[in-house]
Amino acid sequence: MRNSTIAGVGHYVPERVVKNADLVTMMDTSDQWIRERTGIEERRWVDAGDTHTSMGLKATKMALERANMEAKDIQLIIMCSVLSDHIVPGSGCFLQAELELPGVPAIDIRNGCSGFLYGMSIADKFIKTGVYENALIVGAEMLSTSLDLTTEGRGTAVIFADGAGAAILKAEENPEKGVLTTHIHADGRHAKRLWVEEPSPAHSPRISEELLNREGIWPYMDGKFVFKNALVRFPEVINTALEATGYSKEDIDLLVPHQANLRITEAVSKRLGMPMEKIISNIQKYGNTTAATIPIGLSEAWEEDRLNDGALVCLASFGAGFTWASALVRF
Ligand code: COA
Repeated sequence: MRNSTIAGVGHYVPERVVKNADLVTMMDTSDQWIRERTGIEERRWVDAGDTHTSMGLKATKMALERANMEAKDIQLIIMCSVLSDHIVPGSGCFLQAELELPGVPAIDIRNGCSGFLYGMSIADKFIKTGVYENALIVGAEMLSTSLDLTTEGRGTAVIFADGAGAAILKAEENPEKGVLTTHIHADGRHAKRLWVEEPSPAHSPRISEELLNREGIWPYMDGKFVFKNALVRFPEVINTALEATGYSKEDIDLLVPHQANLRITEAVSKRLGMPMEKIISNIQKYGNTTAATIPIGLSEAWEEDRLNDGALVCLASFGAGFTWASALVRF
């Protein structure tokens, strides 16, 4: 049976480091609160000139190099990001232009923190069914420029950050190796628990001076509700992947979860009885970069030689939508 394998991963984070102490100068918060409630110590925020496309391109170049491939080899592009460089079209087309791949399809996915795994699931199906030989999946996020950096916005401003990660999936004629299973879910009943309402085309004109005073232009998150749901959905969707493949949690060599909050990762570790040493956790230095956290985590794991031949790696996410997803990959 034809499978798809992760041939290369890469990442890029902006050079600008924003420490908790920097946020204290903007809003009523503290280094202690942020560390204790989220685990975050610092994060990267974009500098002038960075875009979803530019960060995604840098991550892609690293992934291509590690996969021993050239840009011209890419057959499908899937760009996953909450926002886009422009309202229309999605950043996938801009990335495709930078890669000089006219004619190659570019899909944009806006499924929040689960975006990358939605993209991977779609790419995997295209490869398994023989439509494409490979696919590039990019998670790129530029959230810092949309945050309310006053005390009113502190519930989200201290969490979200910028960065990009990329993975290249390639056809593999070995059913034992590669993406063994993927699972994607959503529950739109909770869409408004984590959302940005404005600017919405429901208003005419969509942009007005009055809009600038509406609370809806800033991200809204019902933190506690999101937290509780994440605690249920992470273990649930990981178990779904294990049941689908017949593996047990003890078989997992490495878990790369979406980086939402260190307390969520620790609770998942406890619920699954999986030691933190087997779980990627880099929220301390990058914050929550939504769709980019999983490919950034994978790329760092690659650098640390944790994706060795034969390693069974589980990927899992939960985020806006609500959406949640998992994948099990044999390297
Ligand atoms: N600094 C200082 N105090 C803050 C703060 C900040 N940055 N943000 C909120 N607070 C305050 C609140 O105003 C509240 O004060 P009050 O008790 O006087 O009203 C208090 O801290 C507790 O706020 P609460 O929202 O209940 O805190 P929490 O323990 O739930 O932690 C989150 C907040 C956001 C860290 C937590 O809910 C969370 O991580 N949720 C999930 C986030 C997530 O996963 N999001 C992305 C989806 S992928």
